Amino acid sequence: MEEQALGRSGVSITRVILGCGNFGGIGSSPAFFGQGTSKDDAFRLMDTAWDRGITAFDTADAYGGGRSESLIGEWLQTKGADVRDRIVIATKTFNPMADGEDHGLGRARIHRQLDTSLERLGVDRVALYLAHDFDPETPQEETLQAFDDGIRAGKVGAVGASNFNADQLAEALEISMLEGLPRYEWVQNGFSLLEQRDTETVFPLVREHGIGYTPFSPLAGGWLTGKYRRNEPPPAGSRMTLRPEPYVGYTSDRVFDALEELERQADGRSVSMAGLALAWALSLPELTAVVVGPGRPDHLAPAFEALDIDLSPTERDNLTEVFS
Ligand SMILES: NC(=O)c1ccc[n+]([C@@H]2O[C@H](COP(=O)([O-])OP(=O)(O)OC[C@H]3O[C@@H](n4cnc5c(N)ncnc54)[C@H](OP(=O)(O)O)[C@@H]3O)[C@@H](O)[C@H]2O)c1
Repeated sequence: MEEQALGRSGVSITRVILGCGNFGGIGSSPAFFGQGTSKDDAFRLMDTAWDRGITAFDTADAYGGGRSESLIGEWLQTKGADVRDRIVIATKTFNPMADGEDHGLGRARIHRQLDTSLERLGVDRVALYLAHDFDPETPQEETLQAFDDGIRAGKVGAVGASNFNADQLAEALEISMLEGLPRYEWVQNGFSLLEQRDTETVFPLVREHGIGYTPFSPLAGGWLTGKYRRNEPPPAGSRMTLRPEPYVGYTSDRVFDALEELERQADGRSVSMAGLALAWALSLPELTAVVVGPGRPDHLAPAFEALDIDLSPTERDNLTEVFS
């Protein structure tokens, strides 16, 4: 699979990243720890992704309360050096590992969380490590120093920022430059046809500083697949039945009108809605790669389809407009 350089990190990543956020839970939400994708299904997803050329996997310490990292670690144990040497793991820290446990980006916590992530993953080093959220209670300089410690100790290749707005990112980049600390080489924020806020705010920084951008939820949690229909209940077992909170704002005529136009354009090209939505994202010059969150191996099909869809700038801008 085609790869792209991630900022100046020296790391190249496949244009599709396997999101492992649902392994053993639904993201970092303690209410769902122990649920989500089972071990067998997670192994099948990782096998399918790897066999089709996806070598970058995204996880976090708190996903499934540690279960996501542990499942990746167990899967890696079944593989040889060819996989262990080539896999690019991105993990993160910020959220509590369980209800009532600590959170944030303080120096001592980062040291502890990084070590326990490496233990669960069964590796000595991860290529990529992210601040999972902005921490208003810790000076950014302290966090960047802790990340520097991890890089100097050989435990981390490069660091990135997730869920940062433009002001928070700009401040971090300035501190890195002034203090000679590692800089955030890429951003992982929510971004899709239905969530384009970063275009006007974070993208100018991505261009100015030559950093990468690897959005999560590029299918808006499934909304861009066409599985949710106007005036129809969500399919049984779908994310809208389990954890609807992040997406309730999408239940509007404006969104359904746009989705129906996406479906018309996808039908006109004989591709899936999800494939076209991912092709739109990948056609944006700021985007390095998308982090997809398949629930089953066949959910990966649109990601591979997207890599073969060529959108002209006019077609891309037209889709942008449909959802603006
Ligand atoms: N940094 C952060 O704060 C953050 C936040 C969220 C996610 N992430 C990362 O990004 C990854 C992806 O996020 P996401 O899961 O929200 O991404 P997504 O790809 O937008 O949504 C995934 C969901 O969409 C549905 N879906 C996907 N492909 C489908 C298909 N072909 N047909 C029908 N439904 C399909 C499935 O929902 P059903 O369950 O309904 O089948 C699946 O759970 C996560 O695994 C995690 O690694 C990071």
